[in-house]
Amino acid sequence: MKVVSIVGARPQLVKLAPMSAAFTTAGHDHVIVHTGQHYDADLSDVFFSGLDIPDPDINLGIGSGSHGAQTGACLSALDPVLQAQRPDWVLVYGDTNSTLAGTLSAVKMHLPVAHLEAGLRSFNRRMPEEHNRVLTDHAADLLLAPTEEAVRHLAAEGLQERTALVGDVMVDVCLRMRDAIRERRVAVPPLPGGIDAEEPYVLATLHRAENTDDPRRLEALAQALADLPLPVLLLAHPRLLSRADEHGLKLERGAVHVGRPLPYAGMVAAVLGSTAVVTDSGGLQKEAYLLGRPCTTLRTETEWPETLTGGWNVLIDNPSILGATRWARTVSRPAPTTHRGQPYGDGTAARRAVEVLEQRV
Ligand code: UD1
Repeated sequence: MKVVSIVGARPQLVKLAPMSAAFTTAGHDHVIVHTGQHYDADLSDVFFSGLDIPDPDINLGIGSGSHGAQTGACLSALDPVLQAQRPDWVLVYGDTNSTLAGTLSAVKMHLPVAHLEAGLRSFNRRMPEEHNRVLTDHAADLLLAPTEEAVRHLAAEGLQERTALVGDVMVDVCLRMRDAIRERRVAVPPLPGGIDAEEPYVLATLHRAENTDDPRRLEALAQALADLPLPVLLLAHPRLLSRADEHGLKLERGAVHVGRPLPYAGMVAAVLGSTAVVTDSGGLQKEAYLLGRPCTTLRTETEWPETLTGGWNVLIDNPSILGATRWARTVSRPAPTTHRGQPYGDGTAARRAVEVLEQRV
């Protein structure tokens, strides 16, 4: 079986790692196409080296741009690549502009497309990721769903026949990395931003367009982090840095220590070392849940509602409405004692995804 994986942004590289390993184990021909949506070494190269992913076979070098320009540039660059490769499956990941472009290019060439992490919904039509998910699911031939909730969403949209529940490949990679860190089989970089790993700290990230692009909202969120009673390590995505710069906002203030994004081993170690996580990232909400750290999510909804069970994750859209004391108490609440179960599977999702691809080729 020949599979072309199309990736472009950081969270897709994390999901690519267990898939790439599973394709290799099963002896399949796996071609990696990187669109170049993320091009900074911190967001791309360190994930290939740190997660033992082979270098991309093809890099389209698309870079940044408006949604239309970025998606369109990916689409036209992918056509000749897929035409030349003619794989049995084109595999797209998650919900970025690269996911949508890969799907459109493949489907118009009558190449079978599988969507990994299908069926997630925020039901917030202002999110670019929501457009990408819905359009990808409706165009793809095979929907590899991570959770039962995702399966229900797909069924509600009439897509049950194309759906297979495989579990979440992020469990595969996250728990494997956790064990490697605990057993000191992997090197972990020191925490950036002058944070003392031995002292309590809050780990924070912020990058979604809904939180970064409106100057007043970004100011309010930056101040909320600054007001927390514990040191906050804010790992700054390039989008956050460039929007803060454009809006004339200083992120480093009060409790906040700004650091560069971490490679995956560093990120998992930083979650394990933290007392709490504050984020708008889908991946980090789930990593906090899997690693047993309470998470506060700066959004009105989540695509991972399982994390909300038992209070492991809490959604806060507007910290200033809570007032400083309740906000601080919410973020630094102790980890719940409730059992988390395995709503995301048992860490064998990549192998199951490969088996489903084999069966339906
Ligand atoms: C993208 C995905 C989002 C995912 C996120 C993970 C879309 C619509 N969004 O958001 O779902 O959660 O990746 O990181 O596809 N930039 C750099 N260097 C880079 C990449 C980006 O400086 O390597 C800057 C550029 O200023 C760019 C901005 O970040 O304009 C936004 O990048 P873009 O790829 O459009 O979206 P993300 O915000 O990273």
